[in-house]
Amino acid sequence: MSPTPPPSGPPSGAPSDTLKAVAAGRGKLVGTAVQAGFLSDPPYNAVAGREFNYLTAEYQMKWNVIEPSRGVRDFGPGDAIAGFAASQGMRVKGHTFLWHGATPSWVNALPADELRVAVEQHIRAVADHYRGRIHAWDVVNEAIADGGGSALRDTVFRQKLGDRYIADAFRAARAADPSALLFYNDYGGEGSGVKADRIYALLQELLANGVPIDGVGLQMHIAAGSRPSDGAIAANMRRLAALGLIVHISEMDVRINDTAGSEQMRLEAQRTTYQDVVRVCMLEPRCEAVTFWGFTDAHTWLSGDRPLLFDARYQPKPAYDGVLEALRGR
Ligand code: XIL
Repeated sequence: MSPTPPPSGPPSGAPSDTLKAVAAGRGKLVGTAVQAGFLSDPPYNAVAGREFNYLTAEYQMKWNVIEPSRGVRDFGPGDAIAGFAASQGMRVKGHTFLWHGATPSWVNALPADELRVAVEQHIRAVADHYRGRIHAWDVVNEAIADGGGSALRDTVFRQKLGDRYIADAFRAARAADPSALLFYNDYGGEGSGVKADRIYALLQELLANGVPIDGVGLQMHIAAGSRPSDGAIAANMRRLAALGLIVHISEMDVRINDTAGSEQMRLEAQRTTYQDVVRVCMLEPRCEAVTFWGFTDAHTWLSGDRPLLFDARYQPKPAYDGVLEALRGR
């Protein structure tokens, strides 16, 4: 009988250096989003543990999962993720206290005075539960509008609590867990343009007002061939860093369905995109982490595409090699 390879060994064809070994050697975090239920799947568990030193719950630390009905909190799935991270010596990104896309319906229905209390209690209870286990919290997610009139997205929080809900959330988070870094996280503002400028202006104003905010997450949901230039991403990271902020690439994936050419050409374009963007982070001292929004094409929120580093059978794609090269500084 041929020996079974240990689950922690590299898959056939994979380089023996792992993403996390190379990233750690350069002082960076390399992360992935995960779902608790998949961690019992041996290849999923093995690759996550082998390759990454930073973990984000894809959705299981969001308000609608933790407290679907008022006053009853379930930390089970989030705890499973935090427990896996601890067992592997990984850090955890807490994601996310306030996001209009993951707010329980009972919260949306509250009158303003009750909503203010509910937000405070939610942040306090969740931050308190995870205190000491979270490297950084995404305190507010996607609060900036994509275009049009007001810079701030017209969420239920803004409608009922006013623009100050953002500053209040950061202050509540700092009070509840002084040991966690506090992040603002958004998409579509990775390079240049109106949204990037709005994110910059919001953070500049919050900092000027003494709001406790340590970093910014640039989500980086992009497509090969349709993405901000390396130069625009680098310039944006530099100006955010100049505010004193840490920068994370927080949710990277690279779609290829609309990329021209053969499948091999698409996968090569994806590799180049990953390598170029991760290299930008490696060259910016304040860019401390790159997190991918999953790692296997078997489990991606972009079903129908194949935007991640491993294929659906957990084999490394060209994109994996591109990221590894970028982490090595190439
Ligand atoms: C997505 C998850 O991937 C899905 O599984 C979930 O159903 C909805 O949220 N921006 C974010 C992430 O900040 O939380 C989102 O994650 C993707 C977009």
